[in-house]
Amino acid sequence: MDLRRVGSPRVAAVLALDALMSDGDSGVEISRPAAARVYDHLVGGLHTFEVDRQLGARLVAAVPDVSRMVWADAYFLARAVRELIAAGIGQFLELGCGIGGVASLHHLLCREAGWARSVHVDADPVAVAHTREQIHTAGRGRRAAALHADIRHPQDILDAPEVQGMLDLGEPVAIIATGVLHHLDALDRPSAVLAELHDATVAGSYLVVSHLCSDSRPREMATLAGLHADASIWLVPRTRRDIEGLLAGWDLLPPGLVSAPDWHPEEPDSAACSADSCLLAAVARHSGANQRPKPRGGSIKRG
Ligand SMILES: C[S@@+](CC[C@H](N)C(=O)[O-])C[C@H]1O[C@@H](n2cnc3c(N)ncnc32)[C@H](O)[C@@H]1O
Repeated sequence: MDLRRVGSPRVAAVLALDALMSDGDSGVEISRPAAARVYDHLVGGLHTFEVDRQLGARLVAAVPDVSRMVWADAYFLARAVRELIAAGIGQFLELGCGIGGVASLHHLLCREAGWARSVHVDADPVAVAHTREQIHTAGRGRRAAALHADIRHPQDILDAPEVQGMLDLGEPVAIIATGVLHHLDALDRPSAVLAELHDATVAGSYLVVSHLCSDSRPREMATLAGLHADASIWLVPRTRRDIEGLLAGWDLLPPGLVSAPDWHPEEPDSAACSADSCLLAAVARHSGANQRPKPRGGSIKRG
């Protein structure tokens, strides 16, 4: 399916943003850009403010195919989730769900696996409000939940009523972490976040990851990182070697960690995103090996 032709859920978009902005205590910061809203702008979404569109324009001016990278991410997510559904996975925990629209995991599950259960996590109040609105509009409230949380604290997410009530962590679950780990810097210990989630899930669970890679176009990736840093947003493209390091303990499935459009390509999406996406993607499985003893201190705690 060509996701870009499906169209944007405009009414829900405007309603969610309006409702949020009418709440004076919403936590929405409109004086500087937010990663979720900039990303939405790059796929033609409507949940943006002028500051987001300005940063989006600067990103496109610096790296003209940046929107194709975002679409490559969306198509990879769709292909990977379809394979997991075919493999019998019916539970999804999405980290950094973003605003998403038609390319979101929520929409994908609505279309292809209405019976599946899912929890969608983001630190951005606009992303969470919009995801909640989408779940409500689709009548999936008994099967899906949106959670406002920081993925740097995975134990808080695992303990949240939304996760406890919606997912059975005694059964395999797919952890979806597309386009989010490159928003964590080394001090945020993204590998420890993934290791903690590995230890909290059972054999047969999966991890779906995409991550900006600096190897092939280091100067452009440094420019993207710099433009984000100017807006106080962490963006940390990593080397292939470093991204592989994040996935330690998880068993990569074929074809391994590859450019997102090359992960089991399909028409027409592979054709639409065939440029060097700078985005590496992988699906990995929890084989039951490499399970560490549960950490006694619980979650990774930082500011
Ligand atoms: C680039 S968007 C990717 C959205 C979606 N996963 C996708 O692939 O289309 C990154 C998302 O991660 C969220 N995010 C960044 N850091 C986060 C954190 N520490 N905890 C939770 N969400 C975070 C941002 O708010 C944003 O919505």
